[in-house]
Amino acid sequence: MRIFMDTANIDEIRRGAAMGVVDGVTTNPTLVAKEGVEYRDRVLEICDVVDGPISAECVSTTVDALVEEARRVAAWHPNVVVKIPIGEVGLQAIRRVSAEGIKVNTTLVFSANQALLAARAGATYVSPFIGRLQDAGQDGIEVIREIVAILETYHLPTQVLAASIRGPRDVTESALAGAHIATVPPAVLFQMVHHPLTDVGIQRFLADAAKYTPV
Ligand code: E4P
Repeated sequence: MRIFMDTANIDEIRRGAAMGVVDGVTTNPTLVAKEGVEYRDRVLEICDVVDGPISAECVSTTVDALVEEARRVAAWHPNVVVKIPIGEVGLQAIRRVSAEGIKVNTTLVFSANQALLAARAGATYVSPFIGRLQDAGQDGIEVIREIVAILETYHLPTQVLAASIRGPRDVTESALAGAHIATVPPAVLFQMVHHPLTDVGIQRFLADAAKYTPV
């Protein structure tokens, strides 16, 4: 499973990218608004740091406007993937821009049926929001499992991008459920690399290594 970072914070993205395991980045209007920067400027900065798919969200509310916006956003950089929310309007826009070769990440997916429709419309990625599903008392991981099974059964090439990740366990469970990608907030990514027993083990090995002449 590939790992994306779910943030618009450039310092966190640099820190994550330095670990060598970040394959892409997802942003949304909320994440960009927190940074107090222009959306396009920040996406281009991110493209300089991470050489992989970088999702940027479209916010238009009619099909024609969404299509125009998606074309403009996709033209920012070859690695940009446009995020379009699922819905009747979104689906039409996904169909049109995907047919033009624009890569679409279908966002705000909360059910297997929404994912199936997005996949049939030609979306490159579908993003089930597992944390928000769990907040609403639903099993987000089960939704991922259903989407993966449907896409595999019908040989649909759309990739499942587990989003709205709240903790390291969500990443493990998304991987076990067959998600192709998890987009992970920085705090979760940095937590994933640690374990208290690793820290204790390193301290003990360092203490013992000090008892002999280093090589
Ligand atoms: C990423 O593509 C989504 O926009 C993001 O994961 C949503 O996360 P949230 O539910 O924590 O806002």
